[in-house]
Amino acid sequence: MSLFTIGDLHLHYQSVLKAPGQLHDRVWKNHEEKFRKNCEKAVTDEDTLVLAGDHSWGKNLSECELDLQYICDLPGRKILTRGNHDMFWDVKKTGQLNELYQPRLTFLQDSFEVYRDYALVGTKGFTFEGPFYIDRRGRIVGWDEEEEERAKKLVEREAKRLRRSFELAKAQGYTKFIMFLHYPPTNVLEERSVFTDMAEEYGAEQVIYAHCHGESRFRDSILGEYRGRTYRLVSGDYLKWKPLKILE
Ligand SMILES: [Fe+2]
Ligand SMILES: [Fe+2]
Repeated sequence: MSLFTIGDLHLHYQSVLKAPGQLHDRVWKNHEEKFRKNCEKAVTDEDTLVLAGDHSWGKNLSECELDLQYICDLPGRKILTRGNHDMFWDVKKTGQLNELYQPRLTFLQDSFEVYRDYALVGTKGFTFEGPFYIDRRGRIVGWDEEEEERAKKLVEREAKRLRRSFELAKAQGYTKFIMFLHYPPTNVLEERSVFTDMAEEYGAEQVIYAHCHGESRFRDSILGEYRGRTYRLVSGDYLKWKPLKILE
């Protein structure tokens, strides 16, 4: 029994692809097939696979049916968390999604799932850069205070959701956690954030995130050991479509 994860499948069996790069970049060529084969090799039905957001380009559930069916057909128990492109998934309707797809898929939001003696918690998160836009060297290249207000609200909402999940698990006696985000936990300067602080507060052993596509974005946030936890980027193109085993 093992725990695997990956993010950003960006399936589009019934929808229009909104990122043209996905058509031209070699790593994305037939990525659905590559991933299916890699899963069939590595993942068994006793295993758990957490998909960390950006599952589908579909605008609504009917445009995602084949994409979700593809996920249903993968081996193992599948747990999905939300990404910024998952338009089919309204947080308030998570219960309905779970009803529709149980027991084939679990949509994780404002709740937790159990893997061995671990509680798996997850939310989309949000990367807040500040009112400024900075390049990789930390040079300020733009300023937007309206965006700052919007970003602060998003971060606050996501942090509240994540805390609710941690608290629910804690109330049921769980002390070991794996934390899943879709967005990176910090901005490109790798400063601490409400998300890294929460991982430390609850003692999450691993922080898993996705969302970063392409070589130039793979080092946007923390990779590896940082202040007692392990941070892992699991976007599909970064992992070359091989699901990453994070626990035995
Ligand atoms: Fe993505
Ligand atoms: Fe994303």
